[in-house]
Amino acid sequence: MDSRVIHSGMETVQVDLGSRSYPILIGHGNLSDFSRAYASEGLGSNAAIVTNPTVARLYLDPVRTGLEAQGVAAIVVEIPDGEEFKTLATAGRIYGELIRAGLDRRSCIVALGGGVVGDTAGFVAATYLRGIDFVQIPTTLEAQVDASVGGKTGVDHPLGKNMIGAFYQPKLVYVDTETLVTLPRREVVAGMAEVIKHGLIRDEILVRFLERKIENVADMAIEPEQLVGLIARNCRIKAGVVAADETEAGLREILNYGHTVGHAIEAVTDYTAYKHGEAVMLGMLAAGRIGVIKGFWKPAELQRQNALIERIGIPSGARALESGKLIARMASDKKARDGVIRFVLPEAIGRAVSCDTVNREEIEEGIRYMQRRSPEPA
Ligand code: NAD
Ligand code: GLY
Repeated sequence: MDSRVIHSGMETVQVDLGSRSYPILIGHGNLSDFSRAYASEGLGSNAAIVTNPTVARLYLDPVRTGLEAQGVAAIVVEIPDGEEFKTLATAGRIYGELIRAGLDRRSCIVALGGGVVGDTAGFVAATYLRGIDFVQIPTTLEAQVDASVGGKTGVDHPLGKNMIGAFYQPKLVYVDTETLVTLPRREVVAGMAEVIKHGLIRDEILVRFLERKIENVADMAIEPEQLVGLIARNCRIKAGVVAADETEAGLREILNYGHTVGHAIEAVTDYTAYKHGEAVMLGMLAAGRIGVIKGFWKPAELQRQNALIERIGIPSGARALESGKLIARMASDKKARDGVIRFVLPEAIGRAVSCDTVNREEIEEGIRYMQRRSPEPA
């Protein structure tokens, strides 16, 4: 695993987007140095740290104290913990706190937490005073390898997930992989879905690494340098795709491997039964099988994918899902075009394409295949 250490003990991954380019700094045990990176990016002397009570209890102090030591006046806005609070109402509450504190156009929002905090705070940054600076400090595996990178911000609507949002890039992403030690194993495993996805769509070497070490990663039983290298490798994959296609006009779609069925599973279970990453793992089983049916992928490649997912645990309970309801949700998803359901299908380990010619029988077979592999709930 690549573990070049470039930026004072930290790995740097650059997201190349012209005037909107930014660095992702990745280290282990570096949270109290965040304020130095903040200052070196020339960010504002007024900030709002948006977080939730779970993360605040663990990680707010070093971030806030460091900023204050740099002369940055930081207010703290805590939002409730949970996907059900990734809403316009929560965004509205944050706007209120920013206005009351007099934050102006030169102020900066610091999102400290997982994907829910990052997506919501990023959306507020995109829209408050028509856009102010924004920094991500992701503290879940999902957010460190995926959600904090690439500028998709947004909130959910009762009629659909991530239905309201903006592409809005942060000025800096600052990762301390040591924060993952407090993350519940279920959350780590859910984040692994995106790591497996990145390998399958873009990086066979990453897949080979996971084939050797996936249990160690899921148990957070790997050396800090290796963990930093793993996060950096994932950020590099995502940064490369985003740099080529920031607004998902083409290539970026491949980041949605497993998401067509995954998003439908989340929706039909009201976002309560499965973590996002768990639904994506199930979705990769279905999409991988469809890839084989269509002759894009070899059965042996599907087996390699499935073995990785099995080793960290195929999410249970998918047999109870109704195929018809899943397909109806897929057709109304924002990624469908004129009701045509789009799938990302693997072509080889490390290569994927977007496809809009998957017919209903093929989708049903993919769903049945996924269901057969999902254990009954304990
Ligand atoms: P999350 O933000 O809900 O975090 C999961 C749980 O872990 C929460 O209870 C949180 O409080 C807790 N937590 C966070 N950091 C912790 C830590 N270090 N130690 C202990 N507990 C900690 O969930 P998530 O999986 O991080 O993110 C899911 C969200 O991200 C979804 O809304 C999804 O749509 C979004 N997402 C966005 C993108 C994007 O490109 N913007 C990509 C992937 C996912
Ligand atoms: N998580 C998919 C994307 O950022 O495009």
